Amino acid sequence: NDNINSIIDHKLFTEDDIHKMCVKLGKQLTQDYAGKQPLVVGALKGAVFFLTDLVREMNVKEEIDFLDVSSYGNELESSGKVDLISDLQTDVKNRDVLIVEDIVDTGLTLKYVKDLLKKRGAKSVKCCVLLNKETNRRTDVEIEYYGSKVGNEFVVGYGLDFMNFYRNLRFIGVLKPEVIASLKNN
Ligand code: PRP
Ligand code: MN
Ligand code: MG
Repeated sequence: NDNINSIIDHKLFTEDDIHKMCVKLGKQLTQDYAGKQPLVVGALKGAVFFLTDLVREMNVKEEIDFLDVSSYGNELESSGKVDLISDLQTDVKNRDVLIVEDIVDTGLTLKYVKDLLKKRGAKSVKCCVLLNKETNRRTDVEIEYYGSKVGNEFVVGYGLDFMNFYRNLRFIGVLKPEVIASLKNN
C-alpha cells in the first residue's frame, strides 16, 4: 500500500493488538461453547478477516457460514435500512449461532441479523464483534462479546472499508478527516 500514509491519520490497533484480541475472545468462546457445535455466521464482507482469525483461536467443533447484509453500500453513513443480499446455506433451527462482525455502529445490521436468525428458530443467538462503537447506536442490541470499544472515528483496515477499499490492511487505522471531507465536497 504505497499511498496509505496519505489517507491514514494514525494506527488505532496494530496487527499484534488485533491478534491479542482474537486470542482472548477465542479462549472465552472456547469455554462458553464447550460441548456445543456452534454455527459461526459471518456478515460479508467486513467480518471475513476477523472471523477467519477468531475461529482459529476457538477450540470448538464449529461450522462456518456467511450471509451478506448491507446498510451502507458505498455510502459513509448507514442508510438505516438493512438489505439481505445473500442468505446462509445452513438451517439455523435449534442451532447455537454465533454471529461475527467487524464493527457495530448504529447496531441496525446486527439487530437485523440477530432477529432474523432468532425468528428462524435458532436455539441461541449471540454475537462476537471486534469493535464496539457506541456513540451512534440507534437500536438496542446486546453485544455478548467484543474486542474493544472505539470512539466516533472512521476506522479502516482488517475488513473495515472506505468506499470498499483498504479492507486488506493488517492494522486498523483512523482515516484522515480531510479524506472524508474531500469526498463530501464532491
Ligand atoms: C459495515 C460493518 C458492519 C456494519 C455496522 O458493513 O461491516 O456490518 O456496517 O454498521 P451498523 O451497526 O451501523 O449497521 P457494511 O454494510 O458497510 O458492509 P461491508 O461489511 O461489506 O463493508
Ligand atoms: Mn459489514
Ligand atoms: Mg462497509
